[in-house]
Amino acid sequence: MRDAGSLIGNPRPVSRAPYPAPRIPYPVSRTPYPVPRIPYPVSRTPMSTWIRIAAAADCPPGEAREFLVEDRIIALFHAGGGFYALDGICPHQGGPLGRGSVQGCVVTCPWHGWQFDVTTGQHQANRVLKQPSYPVKVEGPDVFVAVDG
Ligand code: FES
Repeated sequence: MRDAGSLIGNPRPVSRAPYPAPRIPYPVSRTPYPVPRIPYPVSRTPMSTWIRIAAAADCPPGEAREFLVEDRIIALFHAGGGFYALDGICPHQGGPLGRGSVQGCVVTCPWHGWQFDVTTGQHQANRVLKQPSYPVKVEGPDVFVAVDG
């Protein structure tokens, strides 16, 4: 006959995670050097440079022109009684918006017909698409566009 101790058997050691858990020093330093703090609020206004891109007479009312300004193509529109500038490369397949036809304040890309509001850059069929625009000013006979520095 077995005794009660032999039915239970010898208890096996239970493996456990070491306790107490190793302490992690707080705060944890993630960089071996001090990280410079950026003052808040961060200025989100980049430095812009006004560049003369055309004479006002170069772009008659209801028309568009394209200009190479530094490293970018800018489409200039004379529509709705004012001048407006958009990124001249159509986001569809790179068509020349500055060679599109202007009706009212809408330019139609000459390649496949995408249409944008020249005053805002808003695509006329897709609310998500917005063509980048540039500030424009007219001083005397000249048209200037503000380009990020
Ligand atoms: S490239 Fe402009 S609509 Fe296709």
